[in-house]
Amino acid sequence: MNISVIGLGKLGLCTAACFASAGHQVYGYDLNDFFRRELKARRNPIDETGLSELLESAWNNLNIVDTYDAAVHASDATLIIVPTPSLPDGRFTNDYLIKVLEGLAPALSAKGTFHIVDVVSTVMPGSCDTIFRPLLEQATGKKCGSDFGLVYNPEFIALGSVIRNFLNPDMVLIGASDEQSGALIRDLYASTCKTSPMMAVMSLVNAEITKISLNCYVTMKISYANGLAAICEQVPGADIDVITAAIGADTRVGNKCLKGGLGFGGPCFPRDNIAFQAFAEEFGSEALLGKAVVAVNNSIPRRIFDKIVAHCTAPAKIALLGLSYKADTHIIEESHSIMLAQLLQNTGFTVALHDPKSLEPAKKQLGDAVEYDDSIDKCLKGAAVVALLTDWPEYRNLDWEHIAALTKPGALVVDSWRAAAEKNLSAFTYMPLGVGISTKE
Ligand SMILES: NC(=O)c1ccc[n+]([C@@H]2O[C@H](COP(=O)([O-])OP(=O)(O)OC[C@H]3O[C@@H](n4cnc5c(N)ncnc54)[C@H](O)[C@@H]3O)[C@@H](O)[C@H]2O)c1
Repeated sequence: MNISVIGLGKLGLCTAACFASAGHQVYGYDLNDFFRRELKARRNPIDETGLSELLESAWNNLNIVDTYDAAVHASDATLIIVPTPSLPDGRFTNDYLIKVLEGLAPALSAKGTFHIVDVVSTVMPGSCDTIFRPLLEQATGKKCGSDFGLVYNPEFIALGSVIRNFLNPDMVLIGASDEQSGALIRDLYASTCKTSPMMAVMSLVNAEITKISLNCYVTMKISYANGLAAICEQVPGADIDVITAAIGADTRVGNKCLKGGLGFGGPCFPRDNIAFQAFAEEFGSEALLGKAVVAVNNSIPRRIFDKIVAHCTAPAKIALLGLSYKADTHIIEESHSIMLAQLLQNTGFTVALHDPKSLEPAKKQLGDAVEYDDSIDKCLKGAAVVALLTDWPEYRNLDWEHIAALTKPGALVVDSWRAAAEKNLSAFTYMPLGVGISTKE
């Protein structure tokens, strides 16, 4: 199938590369001249695990074009993957999407064959039927469902594993204006995915609600485990990992996203929850569960901060290991590590930061008042507290005997993911999140 992809950012370029590598002819367009120039020169402008390697097998089928018209005329379906940032009230804006739809309309209008417009960006429920369909029908003079198709086809991917998630989904979500469009997009994914996922083909509005509520359900599991971890910390002998391993073994629950630790962050989960609440309110309902999920999540940086303040006073040095909102990405958006750094900074502590990928973005957000260290040793030197935050693999194999010689005697080690639980930490005050403290005494 010939497809075009509008928006070649973090998700769009990975999507284009996956389809091109699977043998589809892909025509990509991005507003960003630099991206188009780099891609035409076969250079990858996006930092995402495995993308450069995948592009090697995709370049021959990946054509970068300079106009919406070229994209539409060369393809049978146009996937739109542009930003939908959150507004102050939590709803996602459709402004970028509307600009693209208006840009596509002249070519759609002129085209003699059936064309699918496939919105991949995350949107508020109701957007397709009440905004995109009327806009396209009016701008093209054509009838949606018979002259052209409208599809809502969002992805469930996480930064750092976008390609793996894209190629191995549990489910492909396809909301479609008509049977033909749903079937064509279903076949496109069936010919590209490495697994045989459930093809959830449904109406546009059902797909919009499914997308946002699935993400909210996942965050509910994360907050459930984190709320439980906070309780376990108060109960001598309690251990979150033992408990969640058993809970997750029940197939009604499942063990994914059920590990007590830091909360959810990044560009999607936090804002999806807020948007879900705005969506419920718009229709006269209330997302009570969602509010609790957000409250548990927001309490986590402060919970760690309180442990640090109970151990030492400012201006003691606090070493934070891991800044990105999760491992395998440089993204720090809504990262609990950054929130903790801000709390410490505002209280007068000396804050030293280390991360394999996120020092530069952190500098932009936190400024000059904190220390940024390429070396873990330098970060830990003289620290009264070591907080293991993002679960990067390199923090799982630290030499704690060596670290004891660097830090203050009896330094507090806050271990968000129990990464050092098996190590000899007798030189430290060890505080794993989610573990009732007496088990370690
Ligand atoms: N990145 C993720 O983890 C992820 C996961 C699920 C869903 N999403 C959704 O996918 C959408 C895109 O996210 P992203 O992370 O890829 O964003 P991004 O900012 O990385 O990329 C968006 C790209 O769109 C381009 N663009 C903007 N306006 C354009 C226009 N008018 N014409 C052509 N190109 C245009 C930008 O130049 C940019 O390269 C959002 O709705 C997001 O919520 C993202």
